[in-house]
Amino acid sequence: MAVVQEKELLCKSFLSQPKKLLIGGNWVDAESGKTFETRNPATDEVLAKIAEGGKADIDKAVQAARKAYEHGPWRTMSTAQRARLIYKLADAIEAHIDEFAQLETLDNGKPIKESRYVDLPQVIETFRYYAGWATKLEGETINANANFFNYTLREPIGVVGQIIPWNFPLLMAAWKLGPALACGNTLILKPAEQTPLTALRLGELICEVGFPEGVVNIVTGFGPDSAGEFLVNHMGVDKIAFTGEENTGRTIVKASAGNLKRVSLELGGKAPNIVLADADIDAAVKGAMLGIFFNQGQVCCAGSRLFLDKSIHDEFMTKLIDRAKNMRQGPGLDEKTQIGPQVSKEQVERIMSYIAIGQKEGAKIVCGGEQPGGDLAKGYFVKPTIFEGVNNDMRIAQEEIFGPVLSVIPFKTMEEVAEQANKTTFGLSGAVWTKDIKKAHKLASHIKAGTIWVNCFNAFDPAVPFGGYKMSGYGRELGKHSIELYTNIKSVWVNLAE
Ligand code: NAI
Ligand code: MG
Repeated sequence: MAVVQEKELLCKSFLSQPKKLLIGGNWVDAESGKTFETRNPATDEVLAKIAEGGKADIDKAVQAARKAYEHGPWRTMSTAQRARLIYKLADAIEAHIDEFAQLETLDNGKPIKESRYVDLPQVIETFRYYAGWATKLEGETINANANFFNYTLREPIGVVGQIIPWNFPLLMAAWKLGPALACGNTLILKPAEQTPLTALRLGELICEVGFPEGVVNIVTGFGPDSAGEFLVNHMGVDKIAFTGEENTGRTIVKASAGNLKRVSLELGGKAPNIVLADADIDAAVKGAMLGIFFNQGQVCCAGSRLFLDKSIHDEFMTKLIDRAKNMRQGPGLDEKTQIGPQVSKEQVERIMSYIAIGQKEGAKIVCGGEQPGGDLAKGYFVKPTIFEGVNNDMRIAQEEIFGPVLSVIPFKTMEEVAEQANKTTFGLSGAVWTKDIKKAHKLASHIKAGTIWVNCFNAFDPAVPFGGYKMSGYGRELGKHSIELYTNIKSVWVNLAE
């Protein structure tokens, strides 16, 4: 039996311990004493009770981070020592890779094959990539004027607040922590309320490998009127990095205005996935599946608008529907599972409401469109769903559904699809399937989005920048671009004039 049984759970002992806040190197209860529950999306069972951080806890965490930034050993240690700590953290995660994968799957619902072989390896690589950057940060000298010697210093920003979502809980933590630490900042991480567990386990390893106290603080809790909002409002925080919903991003920009703290945002998407008539159909069908059903469709760069050339539409759809109908849906801990549950009841409700909207708008469901029954009825499952005959103006083609719901839009000409692809308020990613190198490059240049995949989908690497055009946010994470997000440049003028 490939399902991980309870007795085989490596994360059992971690789950049984109280879940506290990490502030100034200590694990503490929330000042209010409040807790909230995190649930297993496959079963709706409570996994653990989590400390609910509030204003007093954020105040304490910001103070701890400030102290560690201004006065702790973090500030004076060599960059090689800083790098060494980040490498040690990556090694420690690797040593517990199966435990982390199980914990992620239990809390988020995603298939264990994905948490073990996609999320976790990327988490480890991201930390290693940024560990390397710690020793490679440099300023420059500028020969502007012979009467002056001018040089620039690249300095950390200071105390950073990082608010992350639930779709890739540990990976989003790695994207945030890796560069912030490499650049010498101290930080407060606010994990998503739906999936706090792997961040808390990460906190234990951060303490174990020897990061100085207060460098990484972890405050679990909610967003509005809770830990998230208090962190964004806090006058002692120098920068906020956020990944999540577009509307939350807007709220954060407004709330950050008090001390004009820096903000970087990675928000939603409604990516066009464009298949031209000359494409390798089988490869494009696989790409379309990966584009919309990977991680149960809970992906900001999901290929949720599939544009199909009319001449290949029917052949493509036959193959796509056949694959989608045959996906093995089940609990994430089952190694055979290809599509797991959504993260929460709220998300299921949101997805089901969009499925109803799509039908009202006149699109046709050719696959799924409902929740499975039987053993899966108690979990947060939605069947892989495909809408045919979608018009790009419909709400199901314009709004982020964040679930396994694909909108298929037929087109006749390159000009038509090029125009439609950009008819969206988002601009996070897009993909083009064609054998024609000219068409591929033309579309890649034309689509207003931060990432374009040609004859592939969801390719990622810590060295390659990721982020949005338009309402998909600002700033670029990963690669050297994340270094810009977590450093300030200072120019120093030295008078050489006699
Ligand atoms: P959300 O953006 O509201 O939550 C993400 C994080 O922000 C969580 O840690 C949450 O506690 C925090 N947060 C929420 N409101 C806040 C506030 N006012 N101040 C500070 N922090 C705040 O996303 P949510 O509500 O979980 O999901 C709703 C929709 O957002 C999804 O259906 C999806 O469309 C989109 N989303 C997009 C993601 C992406 O990667 N682009 C990730 C998660 C959700
Ligand atoms: Mg929200």
